[in-house]
Amino acid sequence: MKLSVIGCGYLGAVHAAAMASIGHEVVGIDVDQRKIDALSKGEAPFFEPGLQEILTAGIAAGNLRFTTDMAEAAGAKVHFVGVGTPQQKDSDAADLTYVNGAFDGLLPYLAPGDIVAGKSTVPVGTAASLAPRVSETGATLVWNPEFLREGYAVQDTVDPDRLVAGVPSGEEGEIAASVLREVYHPSVAKGTPFIVTDYATAELVKVSANAFLATKISFINAMAEIAEVTGADVTQLADAIGHDARIGRRFLGAGIGFGGGCLPKDIRAFSARAEELGRGESVAFLRQVDEINLRRRDRAVQLVVDGLGGSVYEKKVTVLGAAFKPHSDDIRDSPALDVAVRLHGLGATVTVTDPAAIENARRIHPQLTYVEDRDEAIRDADALVLVTEWDEYRRQLPPEHASSLTDGRVVVDGRNGLDAAAWRAAGWAYYGM
Ligand code: UGA
Repeated sequence: MKLSVIGCGYLGAVHAAAMASIGHEVVGIDVDQRKIDALSKGEAPFFEPGLQEILTAGIAAGNLRFTTDMAEAAGAKVHFVGVGTPQQKDSDAADLTYVNGAFDGLLPYLAPGDIVAGKSTVPVGTAASLAPRVSETGATLVWNPEFLREGYAVQDTVDPDRLVAGVPSGEEGEIAASVLREVYHPSVAKGTPFIVTDYATAELVKVSANAFLATKISFINAMAEIAEVTGADVTQLADAIGHDARIGRRFLGAGIGFGGGCLPKDIRAFSARAEELGRGESVAFLRQVDEINLRRRDRAVQLVVDGLGGSVYEKKVTVLGAAFKPHSDDIRDSPALDVAVRLHGLGATVTVTDPAAIENARRIHPQLTYVEDRDEAIRDADALVLVTEWDEYRRQLPPEHASSLTDGRVVVDGRNGLDAAAWRAAGWAYYGM
């Protein structure tokens, strides 16, 4: 099928390449010429395992191309809109500038019978407000949220846990849903649940899923706060409660908390939207989820200060990790960099290392020192802080090896990922979270 994908950021670029990889003829459209140039050469504009391969394959096969010209959307049967919805500068609400811009740009090129599939994460009610304008062209709007995780984006797009389509009522909606089923044919044929619903439910599925995940993380971090004062072990606690299938072990990793371009801004936008709807109290707990999460960053900084005897002034602190999570070069709302910047503000000489995110980090926080080589970064450090659990820090850094690089013997484990006993045995003061 001929598809267009408007917006070639994280979501759009992966979606375009993934749709080409399952046989569709895809044009990806973005206003950013640099991004389009890179994608057209088969270069992934960000670090995402597997993306490079499917981009190159699609371009070589001739069923994937990229352009800045919206007119090239004309002729596609389905138009996916996957532009960003960042947090507004002066409030918690989502900024819909890019969504509105994408629809304004796309509408003139729609033909009767086309499907516009919104993928961006939007405040509930957005699809209903956009639908009349799409209908005027004879096209149909569906809301088809995306659940991909960075680092697993290709896999999550090609083989998702579920597909959700918010459609208008009646025959128009049925037809639209059947077209989307065709688009996602390989997943549908495999038996992936395909949930057809109304716009509001589809929009809410997305934000409530992220809200639930964020709540799970803050729940275990709240338990970590209690565990800390009682001497309990939060990792064992998570293992034990996680055995209950109703609870589940995943997303019970206590530590420095969540960051990234999705969970933090999505729970804030959800709260803001609920307040607009007069139902602020229904999700008031999300404010606490956010607060617990941000408190973890304070705690990590405090542990470094305490570990270094009350002050980090002029101490060399090496921060292991810059990305908001491993397998990503994304530094949006990264807890790692937040901690690094705060330690720097307290007078520490902060060295940051990361296998993928240094370039992005340097652009935003030029005041920090960046060292690509892990061992070089550790050399002569007074304290190490593990903030992003890349394997090269979590599994592949023996404490004896770290000891050979530095006289410092303080390690703060922001992800509870290190072997505490081994680090202690090697003479380190180990602080977990
Ligand atoms: C998240 C959701 O997991 C995806 O389903 C969703 O599609 C995506 O947002 C989105 O809205 O686009 P992502 O932001 O890529 O995906 O990352 P996650 O894997 O969810 O991790 C989010 C943060 O939580 C990371 O900072 C991670 O380190 C942290 N985390 C995760 C914990 O602190 N503890 C855990 O147990 C798990």
